[in-house]
Formats: sequence, structure tokens, C-alpha cells
Amino acid sequence: MLAAAGADDGGTIRAPESSGVAARNAASCAPTMEERMGTEKDYVLGTHDEEIERLGLQNRVWLPRASDAWRRAGFTAGQTLLDVGCGPGWATLDLAGIVGPGGRVLGVDRSRRFLDVARERARANGIAHAEFHELDLDEQPLPPLRLDGAWSRWVYAFVRDPRALLARVAGALRPGGTMVLHEYVDYRAWRPSPERAEFAWFVEQVIASWREHGGEPDVGMALPLWLVELGFEVRELKTLQAAARPDDFVSRWPDAFVGVGLDRLVELGRVDRARADAVRRAYVESQSTPGAFQLTPTVIEIIAIKRER
Ligand SMILES: C[S@@+](CC[C@H](N)C(=O)[O-])C[C@H]1O[C@@H](n2cnc3c(N)ncnc32)[C@H](O)[C@@H]1O
Repeated sequence: MLAAAGADDGGTIRAPESSGVAARNAASCAPTMEERMGTEKDYVLGTHDEEIERLGLQNRVWLPRASDAWRRAGFTAGQTLLDVGCGPGWATLDLAGIVGPGGRVLGVDRSRRFLDVARERARANGIAHAEFHELDLDEQPLPPLRLDGAWSRWVYAFVRDPRALLARVAGALRPGGTMVLHEYVDYRAWRPSPERAEFAWFVEQVIASWREHGGEPDVGMALPLWLVELGFEVRELKTLQAAARPDDFVSRWPDAFVGVGLDRLVELGRVDRARADAVRRAYVESQSTPGAFQLTPTVIEIIAIKRER
């Protein structure tokens, strides 16, 4: 069962499944030109090929929930939408499908590697109304925009000043425009059953590494308060959490994070290889138990409307 959910026979969690992008990048362990020149701005989870693939898998797992939120928020044909911290543009291109050629979608991120992948996918799919801008959301203003809507997922958790970013996105929306956000409110809620002490330790290391890089995993707790201060009506709030069995497609998402996330913690020098392997083994062993499942980290979904002045 777990083998289908991302672990091989040796109890190793595999990197996410392959796609065209992966195939193009699969052999590229060598640094890219941006990396060699020091122009790539990565984030705490990295911008390597495995992370690009992981974000693609994550988008596929979350697409039903994101699409539902976009529909309830009124995202539709002809609109101008912003994808804040778009990564490799997986959701941006889904949004491009909603607004259609008569609309416009902009993705902004600071990773040139991610944006190159996003632009290439847009080109390969003949999508001319999606554009991507390289900018640091902590340091640079957004392009001048009058947006109908803004989407963001797991971005405010990584920036140094999330309230300032929220204010800038708010400023780019037209009155009556809509923000849709998915961010964590309780990262520690991520628990496998049967529970494993090694896994709880891993979750703490993830939280600590994000904080060390200036982020706050549970930033979703503050967002609705800030939105009201910024003149928004918070129209909908709900939590999203799955209880996923190992053979549930949803489990592919945490499986992938255990694989890529542990490697990254080793790369950052926060966790040694032996400890990382012990966490992997504990996770695989837990999820191979008859009746096993896991609770995913709790996400808050926010739909908020900018009040007319
Ligand atoms: C977990 S990924 C989410 C990507 C995308 N929103 C998604 O759901 O697939 C976080 C993204 O935030 C971007 N990011 C983090 N800090 C940033 C900053 N200061 N400026 C611009 N982008 C940033 C990263 O490059 C990465 O693409």
C-alpha cells in the first residue's frame, strides 16, 4: 500500500512522480546558470527540481479545494487575477484557464528557476495571457495593477513581513475585489497514526527551520485580523484538514514532503543523515500498519472582499 503512496521497498520515500518538467530537469543535478551566478533566490524549502515536482504534486492534490474556493470567490472569465508567490506557476495556469484569453493572470515570485518553469509551461500550452514577474515580495513593490482577485497559497508563511505584503496586495485590488488565501493555522496538527516520536520531532524541525528563515508557519491565525484592519469583509473562513489513509491520493502530498523536506533539512545542516533516515523509517513503518492514517497540517481558507470606500 505505502509503496504506491511514495515509498520503495527499502522504506525510502521517493521524490514526487515525474512529469514533462521533471523529465527535462531530471538529470540536472549540476547547478543552473542562475545558481552559478548567484542570482537564484530560493526559499527555505529550496528551488531544486524535486521541489518543483513536489509543488506540482501538491497542486494536483489541492486543486479540487482551490477550484471550489475560486468558484465561491467569483473568479471568472475576463478577470485580472494575481497569484502571489506563484512558484512554478501550477495554480497560475489553472487560473489562466478560468479567466480565459479575454482575461489576464500574473504570477509573482522571487525564484527565477520557478518562473522559468512557469513561462515554459505557459508557452508549451499556448497560454499567452499568463505572465510572470520576478520580484522579492519582502522588498519590492507589486507592478501597478487594478486586480479583480488575488490568490495565494503557502506564501505568507515564508515572508519576513506578511502584514506589509498583505497591505500591498490589498492596495492592488479594486474596491469589491476578492482575496482567496490558503495558509496553515496549525502545522503541529500533522500527525501519523500510529504516532511516532521521531515524526513529531521532524515536524518541530520543519517549524523551527521556517522560523529561522524569517517565516511563521501558522501565519493564518493572524490573516483574518489583518484583513479586517485593511478594510476587508472576511466573507468565508474554514479549516481544511484531511484524515488520509496511505492509499489515498491525498497522502502523496505529505509523503512527498517527508522525502523532499528531510533532504532539505539535511542540506541546511539542521538534521544529520542518520536522524533523517530514522524519521523516514518511522514514518514508513507507521503508515505500513494495518489501519494507519495521518492527519494533515491544518490549513485555513479565507475569502475576503475589499470594501467599497
Ligand atoms: C510553498 S511555495 C508555494 C508556491 C505556490 N503558491 C503553490 O501553491 O504552488 C512558497 C513560494 O513562495 C515563494 N517565496 C517565498 N518567499 C518569497 C519572497 N520573499 N518573495 C517572493 N516569493 C517568495 C517561494 O519562492 C515559493 O515559490
